[in-house]
Amino acid sequence: MKLSKRLQTICDLVEENSSIIDVGCDHALIDIYLVLYKHVTAIAADVNQNALAIAKENIRNYQLEHQIQTVLTDGVKGLDITDKTIIICGMGTQTIIDIIKNITTYTMKEMIIQSNHDISRLRKFLAESGFTIVDEVFLKERGKSYIIMKVKVGHTVYHELDYLLGPIIKKKYSEYVREYWLKQKQLLEQIPEHNYDRRMQIASIIEQIEKELL
Ligand SMILES: C[S@@+](CC[C@H](N)C(=O)[O-])C[C@H]1O[C@@H](n2cnc3c(N)ncnc32)[C@H](O)[C@@H]1O
Repeated sequence: MKLSKRLQTICDLVEENSSIIDVGCDHALIDIYLVLYKHVTAIAADVNQNALAIAKENIRNYQLEHQIQTVLTDGVKGLDITDKTIIICGMGTQTIIDIIKNITTYTMKEMIIQSNHDISRLRKFLAESGFTIVDEVFLKERGKSYIIMKVKVGHTVYHELDYLLGPIIKKKYSEYVREYWLKQKQLLEQIPEHNYDRRMQIASIIEQIEKELL
């Protein structure tokens, strides 16, 4: 079974023999791959009935009806998350935040998260909600960039650059840091002189990157 680079990277972050809940499973490709190749037990959940119907058809085609449970629900509502790896990928930051805000007890094993945009805000929300980022992977596919995070329950003190660049990304991907730094420098040139606060903010980010990471 051939997955896209993004979906393959998500699956690579899941441990063998684990129990997953794939929130927003869409066509259940992640679930099918993980059951076939990593021997997980899977709950494929989606809020959209049409998506879930396609998921069910795909699961039937692979004859995995007994290994993958499909559930129509918003986020993980009504599901037992104890010791589960919760996968929340391919959505916007606000949707992901809303899903996590609805989780009342943090009994999950870990979460694998990929937002399509506004990742700094998501990192800040996760840290403030009592999660630690334990892994981050950066990848490019068909001209688009993606960041996939693994988080666990725990407390870590993060600083501005951790939120902006990623606490692990900033150490692992020097090319990404350089591109980000160049973008900030270009941005600074475009901000008018009278917009003093914004200029100071961007200048401070550039200075921090130069001091800590370049
Ligand atoms: C773009 S697809 C992503 C599918 C897959 N997770 C991926 O990474 O490719 C987003 C899916 O999330 C589902 N979704 C959006 N909000 C949701 C929510 N609150 N709870 C469950 N599923 C949701 C949508 O119905 C859709 O099937």
